[in-house]
Parts: sequence; C-alpha cells; structure tokens
Amino acid sequence: MASLEERIKDGSARVAVIGLGYVGFPLAQRAREAGFEVVGIDKYLPDERRSDIEAIGIRIDTAFEPVRDCDIVLICVPTPLADGQQPDISFIVEAAQDVARNLGGGEVLAVLESTSYPGTTREVLLPIFEEAGKHLGSGLYLAYAPERVDPGSNRAPFAEIPRLVGGIDEESGRLAAAFYEKLVSSVTLVPTPEVAEMAKLLENIFRAVNIALVNEMALLCRRMGIDIWAVVEAAATKPFGFMPFQPGPGLGGHCIPVDPFYLAWKAKKYDFYPEFIELAGKINKSMPFHVARWVAEALNEVGKSTRGARVLVVGVAYKEDVGDTRESPALKTIQLLAEQGAEVFYTDSFVERIEVAGREYASVPLDERAVEQADCVVIMTPHSDVDLELLRSLQIPIVDTRNALRRGGLGVTRD
Ligand SMILES: NC(=O)c1ccc[n+]([C@@H]2O[C@H](COP(=O)([O-])OP(=O)(O)OC[C@H]3O[C@@H](n4cnc5c(N)ncnc54)[C@H](O)[C@@H]3O)[C@@H](O)[C@H]2O)c1
Repeated sequence: MASLEERIKDGSARVAVIGLGYVGFPLAQRAREAGFEVVGIDKYLPDERRSDIEAIGIRIDTAFEPVRDCDIVLICVPTPLADGQQPDISFIVEAAQDVARNLGGGEVLAVLESTSYPGTTREVLLPIFEEAGKHLGSGLYLAYAPERVDPGSNRAPFAEIPRLVGGIDEESGRLAAAFYEKLVSSVTLVPTPEVAEMAKLLENIFRAVNIALVNEMALLCRRMGIDIWAVVEAAATKPFGFMPFQPGPGLGGHCIPVDPFYLAWKAKKYDFYPEFIELAGKINKSMPFHVARWVAEALNEVGKSTRGARVLVVGVAYKEDVGDTRESPALKTIQLLAEQGAEVFYTDSFVERIEVAGREYASVPLDERAVEQADCVVIMTPHSDVDLELLRSLQIPIVDTRNALRRGGLGVTRD
C-alpha cells in the first residue's frame, strides 16, 4: 500500500472533518474540491444544514465509525469560554476521544484547527491518542493548523489564504504541510504546534487591541469634537508603520472577544498577567454602554426618555452579512436598553430570533411601519440589504453607532 505521504500527494487519502461549522464546512468543501474523499462528522448538526453539505459531495455522519477508514482527521470543534473567562476545551477532548477510539490500524494524520491556548496539541491531544494506543513514530502524526476563515466576507477565497502548520515532530509537520499545500497556495511550516497556536492568538489579540485603541480614541475624539473617521483616514495615508482600524459599537464573534482569554488563562499558570488582553477586553466591552447612553441623548433631544421609548435596533449579528450573533454587542445593547425601560424591537434579515436576558425577540421587517412605530432607531450592524440612506432621511432620532463617533453624526435627523 502507498504511504500516507504518497496518498496525500496523489489525492487518494481519505479525509474526515470533525465539526462542520464556520470552520469545518469550508474546509471540508475545499478538501473535496482538491479531490479528496471527505466525510464530515458532526454530533450536533442541525437537520436544515445537512442538504447543503451533502449537495457538494460530502458524506455526513453523526457517529465516528467512518474515522476507521480515514487517513487524515481534521478537528474543527468549538472552543468557548466557561464561567469566569476559563477555556472550555471539552469539545476538543470529546472529539479527540471519539476519533482516537475509532481509528483504524494504519497511518493517520490528526490536525487540530480549533483555536486554543498554546500547548493544547501536545498536552491535551497527544495523551488522548497515546491512551488509545497510537504513538508518534509508529503511525500517528499530529499537528496544529490554525484556521483563518473570515465568515461572510469575500475578501479572500479559502485557497488564497496562507496557512500555518506546526507539527509535533518533523514527520508530522512535513505531512501536514503536504496536505495543506493541496488546499491553499501558501503554507508556512513553523517549528512546533506551540508556535502555530501562539501565532493564531497573536493575530486575534492584535485585532482586539487595535480595535480597542481606535474605540478609545473615538470616545476621546467625540468629547473633543474631532471626527475620528477623518483622523483614521488621515493617519492611513502614511505608507508604513500604520494600519487603519475602524471604531464601532463593540466586538462580536468568537475569535476576537473570546480567544485572547484562552491565552490570558494559560499565562496565569506561568504567573504572568497579560495586561493588553484585559485592557482591550475592558474597552471593547464598554462600547454597548456608550451606545445605550447615545440612545438616551438622542431621545433627550426630542424631549423623550429611554423609559417607555420604542427603540428599533437595526442588525443584531456581530458583523455584516452573517447570521452569527455570538458575543454580538447588539445583544448587550438591547439588554441595557430594556433594563432602562425601553421597548426594544429589532430587524435583521439574517437572524430570525434572539433571546436576550431571558426574553425572546423576533425580527420585524424593515419597512415604513416598523420605522413609524419607533421613537429612535439604533443602527448596529446593517447588512448590505439595509437602505441606510432611507433610514438616515427619516424624521426620528437615529443613533448610527459608527457615525455616532463622527462629529454631528448622532441625534435627530433634520432637514
Ligand atoms: N468562526 C470563525 O470565524 C473562526 C475562525 C478561526 C478559527 N475559529 C475556531 O475554529 C473552531 C470552530 O469554530 P466554528 O466557528 O467553526 O464553530 P461552530 O460552532 O460554527 O462549529 C462547530 C461544529 O462542531 C460541532 N461539534 C461540537 N462538538 C463536537 C463533537 N464532539 N464532535 C463532532 N462535532 C462536534 C458542532 O455541532 C458545530 O457544528 C473554534 O475553536 C474557533 O475558535 C473560528
């Protein structure tokens, strides 16, 4: 039988993708396009997602038996935070145990793609495989390859996003790099999984810190009557040493608000307290409180108070053109406004329903009726189908959370 390396190179290796969410689905799709036979294993896949995945030639299973016939196993399961900002790696552990239990007798390359703290591949995954009788140097290859997917964005197709790979030993790195080279145009092999794990966190922390910086500058600029957007545009004319970040109502999704705390937790085990992560989290998490205050100010301008006001929130997803509300600052904003006595309703063509602080809300269509019923409109995350010009032309208080940070961009729209 051909070696695993040969089967990777000729495309005959069989691939299992564990977890078919934002990361696993496009990965499975790309592996299929690259010619590999792919099985997707997801224990909790909602029925409505099955047909889309099966339509592109990927077999789906909720059980792990198909792993037995696979040569490559890619683990893409969630890594949330538990109470107290502690990493919850239970999904990784559960998936790895299920994989390890079902492996066949031949060579296998297991790759973790989920974001986690440095050491997860070596300290968590390796022992699970060893307990199941799979050992490095005798058929097991293990690597970490952080995903860099950008949901809802067309900025870069999967195959053009460069990837990092860190193997637990030289052979593992070489095989993993050979596999990813079949999927994307550029692969960098780094010396260890820890380098790849930390690099992924550095990428996310870099964004969290820079977004916090521009948000803090925006709050200061607003107080000083300076237009932050004009400031960022001006600074961005410098061709080196500056990278523009945009202010906004806070951070959402998984990577930027959650992942940095995986590192903060691990750092504390080394008696190290990374202050940038905590500070960025503090500033970014304060933004919905500012939005709630801007709403109160906008209502005040027309002689109303938040209590009893009907407030229409436009867009509750954490970013444009996705239906993902994880950590969305819109949810916190809704909670704060409701606590202050506002009657909040929302519109979002990507998100039918949300639950905030034990209350259910259903999206209303963004039409004249919805707007007429509102005492104030808060533009949080407008998808590309929202007519912003129309909203801005209405004779009611508007808080455009991006432009609220622009001079004169907050308050009642007047002729
Ligand atoms: N979403 C992103 O933009 C993004 C980008 C880069 C990295 N990541 C990282 O990738 C990982 C996955 O994120 P995601 O956004 O794809 O999550 P997701 O919630 O969209 O998908 C995870 C999938 O895994 C399945 N799953 C959970 N436990 C399982 C198990 N034990 N066995 C089989 N399937 C299981 C879930 O049913 C779900 O469909 C996370 O660590 C995340 O930090 C996410």
